Amino acid sequence: MAGGVGTRFWPFSRTNNPKQFHDVLGTGKSLLQQTAARFDGICPKENIYIVTSADYVNLIKQQLPFLSDEQILAEPIRRNTAPCVAYASYKIAKKNPNANIIVAPSDHIILQEREFERRINIAINEAMNEDVLVTLGIQPSRPDTGYGYIQYIQDDNEVKKVKTFTEKPHLELAKAFLESGEYVWNAGIFVWNVRAIKKAFDLYLPKMAEIFDDGEPFYFTDQESDFISKAYHICKSISIDNGIMEKAQNVFVVLSDFGWSDLGTWKSLYEVSNKDESENVTDGHVMLYDVKNSIIKTPQERLVVVQGLDGYIVAEYDNVLMICQKDQEQKVKNFVTDAQERG
Ligand code: GDD
Ligand code: MG
Repeated sequence: MAGGVGTRFWPFSRTNNPKQFHDVLGTGKSLLQQTAARFDGICPKENIYIVTSADYVNLIKQQLPFLSDEQILAEPIRRNTAPCVAYASYKIAKKNPNANIIVAPSDHIILQEREFERRINIAINEAMNEDVLVTLGIQPSRPDTGYGYIQYIQDDNEVKKVKTFTEKPHLELAKAFLESGEYVWNAGIFVWNVRAIKKAFDLYLPKMAEIFDDGEPFYFTDQESDFISKAYHICKSISIDNGIMEKAQNVFVVLSDFGWSDLGTWKSLYEVSNKDESENVTDGHVMLYDVKNSIIKTPQERLVVVQGLDGYIVAEYDNVLMICQKDQEQKVKNFVTDAQERG
């Protein structure tokens, strides 16, 4: 899934070039390229499908030149992740009705790749034999309201039955979930077979199921993009989490610990980055005086001198410079809206 715009990571993430296409951690690879590489030991390259906005198709081709055109699924308009999953699933179903599918976001980092493979394999083993929806769960470290929370039956099984799935709870609920110790975060990485996900669309998003089912004659033909253009315009916008995962009764979770981070926000970048002795994260050509607990991410070609900041984000990208208190970063979304209004 590579069609998000990453608003909370503005100005680094922009509508015309969102964060999944950036080398966020300076590893030499974009988040999308890292994601594709992570599956090297798991599935053949010709089985990778990227669902993205039509605007990003060229970026994807540049970054992942091994993909054939039919492996890039272009969405004419943004409809969130449920249609994205439906399009890929129904298209894959035409090629192989018995396929197992791993759904992965394109903008996460995972530090321990071997452990990731192990967890994915546990999930695949479960999903290939049963018509279930399997997700990976991460031990939560703070009452973050940007994640899905999963409550599961506590037993010794490697794959645990999910009791409740709550997408993006409000803060009070997130705090209660964290304190109870009974919840994990949804990593947003799902594993299921084609039959299981089609059944789930039939049950919980039946109109969407019908729309993408009707595409069967057109997938992998010249008429696919015309069909998809019409389909997306009549499709509602909803995430897979709200549309299916919260409602389904056959959800299972594989508890996971592989150095996962959703680089969704500045704070999450701060948490995973190396810090200097004053707890600053810097990327750029910077001179700091009495600066602590801050992120300074600015272009290499500019010398940036900062004095006296504690707990700030200083981020310059393209034609935007943002200076914002680190603990006020939820306001970044408003800055984006206001900046768009100004033009
Ligand atoms: N193709 C496509 N089309 N991709 C999309 C779209 C879309 O309209 N919208 C988002 N994506 C992609 C994003 O680029 C990202 O890789 C992935 O789908 C997930 O979308 P996010 O928008 O980043 O979701 P989130 O982070 O708010 O929430 C999800 O991930 C959390 C963990 O990171 C949920 O699954 C949460 O439950 C989960 O905790
Ligand atoms: Mg995300």
